[in-house]
Amino acid sequence: MNPNSTPLNLTVIGAGTMGHGIAQVAASAGLKVTLVDADLAALERGRRQVDENLAGAIQRGKLTPADRDRAVANLATATSLADCARTADLVIEAIVERLDAKQALFRQLEALVPPHAILASNTSSLPLAKIAAPLADPSRLIGMHFFNPVFLMKLVELVVHPRTSERARSVALDVARQMGKTAIVVNDSPGFASSRLGVILGLEAMRMVEQGVASPADIDTAMELGYNHPMGPLKLTDLVGLDIRLAIADTLAREIGGDQYQAPQLLRDKVARGELGKKSGKGFYEWPPK
Ligand SMILES: NC(=O)c1ccc[n+]([C@@H]2O[C@H](COP(=O)([O-])OP(=O)(O)OC[C@H]3O[C@@H](n4cnc5c(N)ncnc54)[C@H](O)[C@@H]3O)[C@@H](O)[C@H]2O)c1
Repeated sequence: MNPNSTPLNLTVIGAGTMGHGIAQVAASAGLKVTLVDADLAALERGRRQVDENLAGAIQRGKLTPADRDRAVANLATATSLADCARTADLVIEAIVERLDAKQALFRQLEALVPPHAILASNTSSLPLAKIAAPLADPSRLIGMHFFNPVFLMKLVELVVHPRTSERARSVALDVARQMGKTAIVVNDSPGFASSRLGVILGLEAMRMVEQGVASPADIDTAMELGYNHPMGPLKLTDLVGLDIRLAIADTLAREIGGDQYQAPQLLRDKVARGELGKKSGKGFYEWPPK
């Protein structure tokens, strides 16, 4: 294919909360998508979620069965990178929020993808320049930060580090638009424009639970009805995943400093007990709600 045209072959790596959602929306938008996860059970779970989301959209009258069939035909799955990476125009990584894991994956990818391919990370907090540092060509790496659930949330933050190329920026912008998203461009800085503000609210809400100020439900209702937030910060933390929130808080505490990003003990304890939010059945709430 012409390397200067809009990329049509998308590889999404990580089939968890974010990866399956990105794959679903991209396949629905007409891109040819391969969803990859190293863990077969996670891959099957992600694939099932896509099917459930599409079925839900049909039930709500948001999607026709023919649209569903087109999306399904555009979506393949794999447990190995080797084949799909070779034909990828764009790779979006949505694996665990750990710098070493992301650096290792992108180094591996660089040896597999064609020279024109753009590499994107869905990281919520890690510095893009650090993720790009070990690459032979760091200019091909950009942040594409989607929001959860991907099929509902309109925003994509494009995060550019000092060496991100114009081409990476324009390809990412083009794909975000094709996926029906509104993109903002943010310079590489800890937590970007979104997590840096949003995480503070979540952590403060947890400190309020620790201090017995009010129940999680009442704190969430305060923000929903008093400030017109569509969802309170603790319910949102359950949807994001408590482990993910903790990883982001630790990154921001390290990168920005100060007390405001220090993770409350309550969050650390819940993560240690496996109370990760919706994905594990319990966080600040029980899932599914009783
Ligand atoms: N959860 C959110 O609301 C949210 C929102 C925006 C961005 N993010 C970011 O997206 C990324 C993924 O978060 P998530 O919540 O989807 O995580 P998750 O734990 O739900 O899923 C991660 C998946 O990646 C797979 N994986 C891990 N290492 C892999 C590798 N080397 N190769 C292939 N697969 C691998 C795991 O098996 C797992 O299925 C993180 O960087 C996170 O910060 C998360």
